[in-house]
This record gives sequence, C-alpha cells and structure tokens, in this order.
Amino acid sequence: MTTKAKTKKRVSACTINFEPVGRRGGCQKNESLLACARQLGVGISSICGGQGTCHACKVQVISGSVSKPTPNEYKTFTAQELKEGWRLACQTYPTSDCKLNVPAESMTTPQRLQVEGLEAKVSPEPPTHAYHLKMKAPSLSAPQADADRLLNTLNQRHKLQCTRVDIDVLRIISERLRSWKWECQAIVRNDEVIAILPPKSHQLGLAIDLGTTKIAGYLMNLNNGRTLAAKGAMNPQISYGEDIVSRINRVIKSPDEGVLLQKLAVQAINELCSDLCAEAGGKPEEIVEAVVVGNTAMHHLFLHLPVKQLALSPFVPAVSRALEVKARDLGLSIAHGAYVHLLPNIAGFVGADHVAMLLATEVMQTERPIVALDIGTNTEISLVSNGEVTTVSCASGPAFEGGHIKYGMRAATGAIERLRIDDDKIQYQTIDGAPPVGICGSGILDALSQLYLAKVIDESGRIMNRHPRVRNYQGQHEFILVSREERKGKPAITITQHDVRELQLAKAAIRSGIQVLLEACGCAEDDIKQVIIAGAFGTYIDISSAVAIGMLPPLPLNRFRQVGNAAGMGAKLALISRASRAEARVITSKVKYIELASVPNFQATFVQASYLGRYRIKDGRREKLNHGD
Ligand code: FES
Repeated sequence: MTTKAKTKKRVSACTINFEPVGRRGGCQKNESLLACARQLGVGISSICGGQGTCHACKVQVISGSVSKPTPNEYKTFTAQELKEGWRLACQTYPTSDCKLNVPAESMTTPQRLQVEGLEAKVSPEPPTHAYHLKMKAPSLSAPQADADRLLNTLNQRHKLQCTRVDIDVLRIISERLRSWKWECQAIVRNDEVIAILPPKSHQLGLAIDLGTTKIAGYLMNLNNGRTLAAKGAMNPQISYGEDIVSRINRVIKSPDEGVLLQKLAVQAINELCSDLCAEAGGKPEEIVEAVVVGNTAMHHLFLHLPVKQLALSPFVPAVSRALEVKARDLGLSIAHGAYVHLLPNIAGFVGADHVAMLLATEVMQTERPIVALDIGTNTEISLVSNGEVTTVSCASGPAFEGGHIKYGMRAATGAIERLRIDDDKIQYQTIDGAPPVGICGSGILDALSQLYLAKVIDESGRIMNRHPRVRNYQGQHEFILVSREERKGKPAITITQHDVRELQLAKAAIRSGIQVLLEACGCAEDDIKQVIIAGAFGTYIDISSAVAIGMLPPLPLNRFRQVGNAAGMGAKLALISRASRAEARVITSKVKYIELASVPNFQATFVQASYLGRYRIKDGRREKLNHGD
C-alpha cells in the first residue's frame, strides 16, 4: 500500500452506528453505507445488488454527515423525506461518524424461515452403513498397517469388499484407533471407508434446501430416518443481490465474487449444522452424508461452477445430472470423507429443488393432471399427467417477496400478512401483532384481491378515484392502507398504482405459465385434479385471494393443497433413501421443459393473464366467470 493510500485510509475512516440493531464499526469514505453494513453483518436488503433501483436499502441518517443525494435518491424520496435524513444505503457515502436508523422493512432479518412441510414416508436405506469393529492391537508378530487391519477386519467380519480408506481418514486413523483401544464404528459407502467414529456414535445425515433467500436445514438419524432437528437461516448471499440474476451479474463482472458467494453459502450451512447438532445432541463429525437441493443458480454458486451461461439464451446449466462431491472440497465441516449428494437439475431456471418438490409430493403416482408450483422470484410449474412431466419457469419477479412494492417487505415482524376491506374500514393482521411497518407477500395478495372486490381497482388494474382512501400522491393514485394518523405520524402505508402494475406482471407470469402447460398437454382447467403449492409464500397465501385476482385458475378451493417446504422434504427423502435418489433421476428423465420465450402467442396469453378477476383463458381469449362459476 502506498503512503498516500495509507494516509487516505487513516483520514477517511469513520464510525457508523446501525440502530436499532445496535451494531457499530468503521467505514471508509469510499465505502457505501450498504458495503459498511455488509462488513459488519447488518442484513440490509439489496434486491438490485446496489444499483440504486430497488429502493430496498432505505435508511435514515439520524446524525452525522453523508454524501449528497444521487439522482436515483431524488426520484425515490420526497424533499421532506430527504430532509428527514432518508437515503438509499447503497448510494450514500459517509463523510463523518454517523448514526443510522435501519427500519424493519429494510432488514433482511428476522423473518419467517420455513422448515415445516410433509413428513417422510420411506424406509431408511441410506448410502452409508455403520459397522462396529473390534480389532487386536498390532504386535511384533502381527505388524500390519493400521488401515489394512481395519479393512481386513471389516471385510472378514461383515463380508464386505471394501478397498479404500478416505485420505483424511488415513490421516487420523493411527491416533484414533489407539485412543479408542482398537474399537470403532467404520462408516462405509460403496467400497470406501469414509469415516471412523467412536464406538457409540450416531450415524447422522444433513439435508439442506439452499434457497435464494433462505436456507432450511434438517438433521436426520440415518438409521431410523427420523428428523432430529430442523432450522432455518437467511442466505447471507442476499447482501450481494436478492435475486439470482443480480448475483449472477456480480459474478460475471468479478469472478472473485463467485468465490465469496460460495464461501458465504458454505459458512451459513456450517453454522446451521452446528446449531442443529447442538439442538439434537450430536456432533458435526457424526454427519456422514449430506444432500443439498437448490435452484440451478444456487446449485452452481454452491459448487462454484460457471454461471454466466445461465443468464444468456438458451440458459443452459453447466451440469444437470446428479452429482456426488466430497464435503470437504466444498468447505463443509462434517465427517472427514463424507459426500454431498446433489439431486439433478432440469434446466437453467428449474433446479434440483423443483425435482425434490416433485419427489416429496409423489405427483408421479397419479394419472389425472396435477399442477405443482413453487412460487418465488422465479416460479417453477409442472403439470404431471400419466407419469409425464411438463415444466415451465416463469419470471414472476420479487413483488410477492415485497420487492419493487413501495411498502413491500419480507415476512418479518410488523408486516401486514392478512387484510380485509369492509366498506371504508381496513382490517389487517401483522406478523407478531406488531405495529404495521410494511406489507409482505400474503398481505400484498390480499390487498390486491380486496381492492378489486371492493371495486377500487378495475379489471385492467386501474385505481379508480372514488374511494375515500384513494389519494393522488406525486402524480399517481394510491390507496391508503394505514394512514399517517393511524401510524402516529409515520408515513402512510399505501398501495400505489405502480405497485398494482408490478403485481399484475407477477401474477400474469404465473397464470400464463399454467396456461401454457395446459395447452401443451391438451388439458382444460377443469381437468386439473389438484394444484399443489409449495414454498414459504405459497404456504401463507389465502388461496381465495389468489383465485379472485386470476393468479390461479378458478377451481373449487378443495382442489388446492398448500404443502410447505416440499423441497426440504424431498432433500430429506434423498438423504435417507437411495430409492428416492433413483426416483429423482427417473422424474428428471421424464420432464419435458418448455422455454416460454419459444411459445407462439405467449405474449397474447400473458396480456390476458394480467387482467384481474375470475376467468378462463382459451386460445388466447379471456372468458369472464361470474361468482359461483
Ligand atoms: S436501491 Fe440500494 S440496493 Fe437497491
């Protein structure tokens, strides 16, 4: 480092205090408040990855001085808000010590982390087996090498044909066997000894659903297939872009970011693993097998595979088949020679998590059409009929996770999660019963449906100006959900015309995806026996709201099934059962993937699907339904 640079660093360093999280630490003048927050582990949302376009990183400068507002910030905030110190953390650079208020809606944590879902119904048949061994100590008359002694005992006593001992096991074998007085458990996978454990150890497995936003982890007993502990955590990669496209773009610009994102994911899994073990009374070194599922981008980032081609047409993965990798090669701290199994991917935007979901919901065992979908920033939808699977991937965007919505936020404390409009009265329910600070996915969906049913919004999505809670603000109509008075002086929480347009795009992506599948398979909506909705957002939504706005087809409500984290369940199945892994390969081989960009008339279908209300779509035409149809 040059003297000049050293001087610059010394002069420019200042301290930033993040409240109410109470984290403080040093920041440099050339570092944005967002970068400083990342350094300190303060989880500030950044959907656009710091481009200044998503408005998710709002903070309030309580004291201290910062750089002048950028054009993006002038667009985002009113003059009054700027005067009150509101800024975008990614666009703001401190010029002195500062104290910041990070509002709940800008925080990535705490929020609901879903681990619940279906329960496993298969008999355990893991790829690893634990064998109890008692050996004689070596002597001058029997000076066999330690590894040979172990292999010979194992093969003779248990009639096996093991030929290999993992190199890391070899590094500890001599010391461990002596300290355990020549008694141990050998963990065997195919013909390889992948771990040696003390005689009374557990044989544990780890199943991970590595989501773009959240990570769900499950610690399993491999002998009986029971779940010993389950826990969720935020994916720390969020600070580097909330959607996968932002993360891929960062890696394309700077390959070092790929290394960083991989490390962040692994670090989070290792922490989750320690917590799960602490809860269940196990040890990470007793985890002898792991299964990880995720969308294709998360799968590639976790393995540090190239991701550039995922973002470019025709959007192909680097690898789609199932993989087995030594856990240590990825940085996972579990048993010395343990493997991580990764279920196969389907396409660039349909990954192993969707395969896991299809596996867990047993959709292949039905003849009548089933639609299975996992709603997120990218929504994967499959139509399964007579053992054939047809799949699409829809860019539904971040609106249902609160992104691009003025008062949108994740499902965290204070988020409006349910909402009803009764004449002029608004009734709402917030997470944890806290005062409202914003609105999360399920609340946003309710709001759209309630505004439509109350005729505040017409079927084209236009906010009409005839309700007392509709106001014109900064040149656009918006509906006041919670007024400034109701919030005791804090800004009103509203749904703006722009929000409605964003939601229409999101829901049109999902409905048109379902429509493409129906047409490709020659099915009518009424033929659908069941619609399975997986994932965190899908778990909490009110299905009748989703049907009322035309996001889901107008079927009787008893044909919808919300299944929780089915991808996590699929990962658990694959962990404890080799048959389930084989089944996942079969499912993948039966999938016909349709790229929506290649579907003729897709745009026409999409436009029809953007309308609100209950309707059927046929040949690109919308047929409105009355209530009760
Ligand atoms: S506007 Fe700051 S991260 Fe998007």
